[in-house]
Amino acid sequence: MKDCHWEPSEQQDQIASLDELRQKCPVAKSEMLGHAVLTHSDVRSVIEDHETFSNAAGSHLSVPNGMDPPEHGIFREVIEPYFKADRLRNFEPTCRQIAQDIIGRITPNTALDVVSKIAKPFALHIQCAFLGWPESLTDTLGEWLEANQQAIVNNDRATLKQKADEFEALIHQQLDVRRQSNTAKDDNTYRLMHETVTVNGEKRCLRDEEIVSILRNWTAGEVGTIAAAIGSIFYFFAENPLVAEQIRNGDLSTDDAVDEILRIDPPLISNRRRATKDTEISGCPVKRGEKVTVLWASANRDESVFSKADTFSPEQNKANNLLYGRGIHICPGAPLARMELRIFTEELLKHFEEFEITDEPKRANYPSGGFRDLFMKLG
Ligand code: HEM
Repeated sequence: MKDCHWEPSEQQDQIASLDELRQKCPVAKSEMLGHAVLTHSDVRSVIEDHETFSNAAGSHLSVPNGMDPPEHGIFREVIEPYFKADRLRNFEPTCRQIAQDIIGRITPNTALDVVSKIAKPFALHIQCAFLGWPESLTDTLGEWLEANQQAIVNNDRATLKQKADEFEALIHQQLDVRRQSNTAKDDNTYRLMHETVTVNGEKRCLRDEEIVSILRNWTAGEVGTIAAAIGSIFYFFAENPLVAEQIRNGDLSTDDAVDEILRIDPPLISNRRRATKDTEISGCPVKRGEKVTVLWASANRDESVFSKADTFSPEQNKANNLLYGRGIHICPGAPLARMELRIFTEELLKHFEEFEITDEPKRANYPSGGFRDLFMKLG
């Protein structure tokens, strides 16, 4: 087997680069990612074996992303109800209003960058509304996420620490507002402050650092992926007007279409694990303690499962689509993400029929998916 090496870089088109790499080897070695797992079957075997591949891959508290059983299950049980159908039904009208307001700002037949003007503001506004945070926080949150992403790319530990402290301060402000107010606020941040967990036989409220971590993971989980997903949906409609037409006419389920668009053009590139014992992946030895990274952006385009990576076949590919993961860490926010993307797509297609790319699109760099900027005219 060839000894392949891969590092994410700012120059490369990461999707094309992973497509090429996957033809050469199932697992690549990487300074940044450790063992980079590329094929659909290997990614599945890693994410479905949480005993060999631990999620406790980082050094800071990450609830529940960076936890293993039994602790993971305790916290997972707390957050799952926030994404259940009845809660989401109540949130749907707010979500639609935000989509209508943002899409309503688009001037027809005038070029604009849909990433900075539409996709990011939509994701940020929705997230603030979902958590019950003031709209005025959207700009701060947007700037925080950009700077945090840049620090991840640069592996800049000092800035990452500073950004973590800033996020913590921002959440503490939100917790304090709720603690000081006599009128109990009925929002998701307030609800989270009143959740209990039973750890080692002791029932207690969530600690502040756990609330901060949950909210950080929801925010990071939502904003980057939803913004990337929306950019990719715009791009796909420009390239595939007939699919847009089928969705508009109700001949194709919006949810199925969006899941398939995002299989082809992944909003989330990867997630980390750490080996708990000496093992191997497709014959590549992995030592206990070594980093392993599952590349959704490669596995979901693996030709041995999806025949042609770029062919849009929602029905055929649905069962194997790993967009929201598998196993115990499968995305709890998937129902919310699907609702947000469905509503956005419905509103977009109600207002516009023509999608034209006006400038060479720029793809985002690792660890983001989607586009850095995408100039389009809508009519
Ligand atoms: C298009 C949008 C989204 C995509 C593609 C996506 C994808 C994923 C994937 C693949 C995982 C599994 C990670 C792993 O196995 O390590 C995951 C986990 C997670 N996602 Fe999402 N996600 C999206 C939106 C959201 C939203 C809206 C939220 C919450 C507001 C969210 C919260 C989380 C959390 C908390 C986890 C960790 C779950 C655990 O460890 O048990 N995600 N997501």
